[in-house]
Amino acid sequence: MIRHLLVIVALLTANLVGLIWLCRSIDPSIKYSSKVEYNYARFCAGCHGIYGEGNGRIGRFKRLKPAKFTAEEFWDAHSDEQIVRSIALGKDDMPSFSVYLTSEEQQELLTFIKEHFRPTFGVNGKIAELEDEN
Ligand code: HEC
Repeated sequence: MIRHLLVIVALLTANLVGLIWLCRSIDPSIKYSSKVEYNYARFCAGCHGIYGEGNGRIGRFKRLKPAKFTAEEFWDAHSDEQIVRSIALGKDDMPSFSVYLTSEEQQELLTFIKEHFRPTFGVNGKIAELEDEN
């Protein structure tokens, strides 16, 4: 009987440790400098990773294949409208966020992931500037 209890306690502890491991992608001690940064950390980073590489803990744990925002191919293949639609309505294994985020917040997230993770973000602008100088 005691052995059964010990097994149950061990299983519960293992589950708890697992849950804490998953939830650690949201660290309450971090002070986010903006609402959108907080929203990314809270709603997206678990799957897409804090650096947008598509390798967040929940995504790995559930064996999903979240989009990799650091790949230029991702941006080449997706229009802004398509991205916002996927954030709002979800896509395959990605949940819908229209209940949690206003359409303004969804737009802000698009700008955020583009500015922070797209490898050639701003590059085209810089090339245009250089050409202007010559
Ligand atoms: C539960 C895990 C999960 C969470 C949380 C999540 N995503 Fe995703 N996301 C995915 C997966 C898996 C895909 C790949 C879907 C596919 O193409 O099959 C994806 C795809 C995407 C895409 C590409 C959609 C397309 O049209 O191909 C974008 C953009 C995206 N996610 C943005 C976000 C943003 C922004 C958040 C936070 C608000 C977020 N995701 C939260 C799992 C997640």
